[in-house]
Amino acid sequence: MNKPVLLTGLQSSGELHIGNYFGAIKPFVDLYEAYDSYLMVADYHALTSLKDPEAVRKNIVEVVKDYLASGVDPKKAIIFKQSTVPAHTELAWIFDCLVSVPFLMQGHAYKDKVAKGLEANAGLFTYPMLMAADILLYDTDVVPVGEDQRQHVEYAREAAVKFNNTYGELFKEPKEKILSGVGVVPGTDGKKMSKSYKNTVPLFGTKDELAKAVMSIVTDSSGDRPENVYAIHKLVRDETELTSIYGSNQGNYKALKEMLIEDLDRYLAPMREKRASITSADVAAVLEDGGRQARAVSEAKMEKVRKAVGVA
Ligand code: TYM
Repeated sequence: MNKPVLLTGLQSSGELHIGNYFGAIKPFVDLYEAYDSYLMVADYHALTSLKDPEAVRKNIVEVVKDYLASGVDPKKAIIFKQSTVPAHTELAWIFDCLVSVPFLMQGHAYKDKVAKGLEANAGLFTYPMLMAADILLYDTDVVPVGEDQRQHVEYAREAAVKFNNTYGELFKEPKEKILSGVGVVPGTDGKKMSKSYKNTVPLFGTKDELAKAVMSIVTDSSGDRPENVYAIHKLVRDETELTSIYGSNQGNYKALKEMLIEDLDRYLAPMREKRASITSADVAAVLEDGGRQARAVSEAKMEKVRKAVGVA
């Protein structure tokens, strides 16, 4: 009778971009009604990079508005904030005690930060075990994410196996769902779209902000078409139509960018309009309700975990 479980989460570390949307939110929205679905705000994960309490508070509300505006019905999915469900950090600790330091040192996200000379705090180091707890507490089957999270879902599977081998079978091994074509949405410079590269197209920006981002797309004249423009364009317009449009506008990058601005705006405007009608009170009610439901499910699981490890 039980449906399979779908869960994903996004860090509330700043404005979401279209890479977040096409890589994770849209795949979640397309699937979630057929599952028991959870959509989390990873606010404790955001603390690895964000130290401004006002920004932390604001971003949480903004991300929930983004979820609702993207078409997630809070009656059909449990939308909740990680920090209001204590089981997440509690289970993360238990996983921390099962995995080795060299194992965590393989983490791409951690290695990247170290390589860039950014602060590699201990939270960033153990980050994958908090994410494993996020996923495993709900017996998740499927995790829609972008390519950059593949390793983290693998880590969640490893944590499940390590726990099950040590204490007995309690956790299900989840699978990532990474859709081809959107696993790595490129930014305005052709590299992976990412806040830290400052190459993003905002998901809920005004038309002017979209235009500014599109006009900054780096074009090179070596091929038949400006690949960085095309790569974003194909997210919002059919590729057969694009083939003829790009064919008849060869070399006319300005016209192609202007068309991309119009097509992006047409695609995103309905969500932007919907978002404008969502209030902070709506968000508070959704988080309250979602938190209560997530706590009920995760607490039942934690009781079994505490017994299994011997603290209860
Ligand atoms: P985060 O907040 O960095 O990114 C949120 C989601 O957006 C996807 N994404 C992209 N997809 C395609 N192309 C891009 N350029 C792009 N940029 C970002 C990410 O892959 C991700 O799916 N650790 C996670 C948050 C998290 C989580 C979880 C996810 C915490 N707990 C449990 C799933 C399940 C993260 O930092 O994502």
